[in-house]
Amino acid sequence: MTKKVLILGAKGMLGQALARVFSDADLSLWDLNQLDITDQQQVEQKILSLQPQIIINAAAYTDVDGCETNEDLAVRVNGLAVGYLASVAKHLGAILVHYSTDYVFDGQNSAGYKESDPTNPVNAYGRTKLRGEQELTKKGEKYYLIRTAWLYGPGGKNFVDTILTKAKSSDKLKVVNDQFGKPTYTLDLAQATRNIVEQNQPFGIYHITNQAPASGITWYEFAQAAVKLKNLSAEIEPCSTEEFPRPAQRPKYSMLINTKIKPMREWQEALNDYLKYNYE
Ligand SMILES: NC(=O)c1ccc[n+]([C@@H]2O[C@H](COP(=O)([O-])OP(=O)(O)OC[C@H]3O[C@@H](n4cnc5c(N)ncnc54)[C@H](OP(=O)(O)O)[C@@H]3O)[C@@H](O)[C@H]2O)c1
Repeated sequence: MTKKVLILGAKGMLGQALARVFSDADLSLWDLNQLDITDQQQVEQKILSLQPQIIINAAAYTDVDGCETNEDLAVRVNGLAVGYLASVAKHLGAILVHYSTDYVFDGQNSAGYKESDPTNPVNAYGRTKLRGEQELTKKGEKYYLIRTAWLYGPGGKNFVDTILTKAKSSDKLKVVNDQFGKPTYTLDLAQATRNIVEQNQPFGIYHITNQAPASGITWYEFAQAAVKLKNLSAEIEPCSTEEFPRPAQRPKYSMLINTKIKPMREWQEALNDYLKYNYE
């Protein structure tokens, strides 16, 4: 790729995968140290002077429980800053790729959620991410709004790593078996992002996860698969959400339905790759 690409949040879990997948572009990798995206003046100055053709925003405040007590900061990062990026991208005529989440939906629909379905977040994180979507649609022009879910990959705090660490030090662990979703491997999502941009897909909203049954899988099933693939002997026991109260409410059903692009590979295959190539 010969285009000038700017990745924001480049040190985050998805940012690192994007950096790998776009490594042959004329690439700038910025994280909080290079640019605080909540500083509108800096956003304008620095991005206008770089003049990227593609801006990929993987920066976010992603601590779901932390958002409950820190919604002011979260709305600045996940919400308002997206508007600053959308305006600057529009001014430059650049493409803006931005990521959002299944948590913009209320999780009441056991059939899952299509790109056009109405949003209704049930926690602070979801509200701040929805605000970002609204800023983007209001101020942006050439944008891809990619909603994803249950992300894991190298170089970030994620569910798979947490389960495997626990499974190595205990015989038994309980994992929630009444929340349903579709896991997403960061490297697959980064490659799908590149495909969308390179294929000049129409601008708009995309739902991208690895493939899973339409009814989704649970965190329990996800944990079981990871432990089995690593040949660990720990027993995974199913439990209910009530047994693990968390500050932020989680949507029960958060399967994102992709009606627009070629589906990504199956979640088990992606998990297998992650454990084989990225895990010691
Ligand atoms: N993780 C998931 O399960 C999940 C699910 C659905 C959607 N998503 C979305 O996917 C995207 C990527 O998520 P991720 O898990 O890769 O996130 P992540 O690992 O938490 O990375 C986010 C990055 O953004 C940086 N950042 C935070 N505030 C910033 C600011 N004001 N200015 C510039 N950079 C800032 C962080 O820096 P510090 O670490 O120094 O704060 C971090 O490097 C996000 O939009 C997220 O909402 C994630």
